[in-house]
Amino acid sequence: MSVRKAVIPAAGYGTRFLPATKAVPKEMLPIVDRPTIEYIVAECARAGLDDVLVVTASGKAAIEDHFDRSLELEAALEAKGKQAALAMVRDLATLATVHAVRQGEQLGLGHAVLQAAAHVGDHSFAVLLGDDIVDPDDDLLERMVAAHEATGRAVVALMEVADDDVDKYGIAQVGERADDGSVSITGLVEKPDPADAPSNYAVIGRYVLPGSIFDVLRSTAPGAGGEIQLTDALEALAADEPIVGIVLEGIRHDAGDKLGFLEATIDFALRRDDLGPRLAEHLRDLVATRLA
Ligand code: G1P
Repeated sequence: MSVRKAVIPAAGYGTRFLPATKAVPKEMLPIVDRPTIEYIVAECARAGLDDVLVVTASGKAAIEDHFDRSLELEAALEAKGKQAALAMVRDLATLATVHAVRQGEQLGLGHAVLQAAAHVGDHSFAVLLGDDIVDPDDDLLERMVAAHEATGRAVVALMEVADDDVDKYGIAQVGERADDGSVSITGLVEKPDPADAPSNYAVIGRYVLPGSIFDVLRSTAPGAGGEIQLTDALEALAADEPIVGIVLEGIRHDAGDKLGFLEATIDFALRRDDLGPRLAEHLRDLVATRLA
């Protein structure tokens, strides 16, 4: 039951970041100096998932190039004696084996995940959504993989959100919370009205799923927004046996949102020895002058 493969849906237009995303995939927008998708692939690698399938679309070849060797660039860096940059560029191609498949039509997240069926086969696998950036020091994905390997059940990551925000997420109907922070999920609903939400536990974009989810997805009808929803397929799984929810207590940035993207950028820059101290000083000055 060991989990080795991860799927990263990355076929969306990135409309929330237009015009930046007109010619550049949203997954390639940098948080400090690394594209957002690199943080996601690095998270997979840390959890032992070294086979990553990115579900892309036309106009998104830069994602594959980023994880491929670039012999021309390597030769230029070598000739100039830029060893640190050379090592950085080479390391990228060894982070994980990155494959790509295209989602010809964008019919929803469930449909995007279904494009991974041939690559994944019957095995269990993880799905990571690129908009959700989890603190790199958090072992959330490792804990999710361990929970799946121990129970054989589908596992999703949850976060408590405010009443006003439940209509932005898949929301779980949960049982009691165990000492290890896990909850049993008996139902899920995609982007409910706050009045109908079964709880405040929102699904954030980390899933560890059995290969049987593909058959469920094949028979999942379009749901919220007219799209084939992964949440609806999970709801069908949960009707057979409860899903496991692992509650994230640490930091998660919504990099799909402009404010969340800025917060992630500042958070990651502040953690860096080469940037953090000077950025902190600059931010203090800026707040004192702009908000005086
Ligand atoms: C997707 C899922 C939703 C989940 C969210 C987490 O929604 O459909 O269930 O809660 O990601 O980020 P999206 O943000 O793509 O609309």
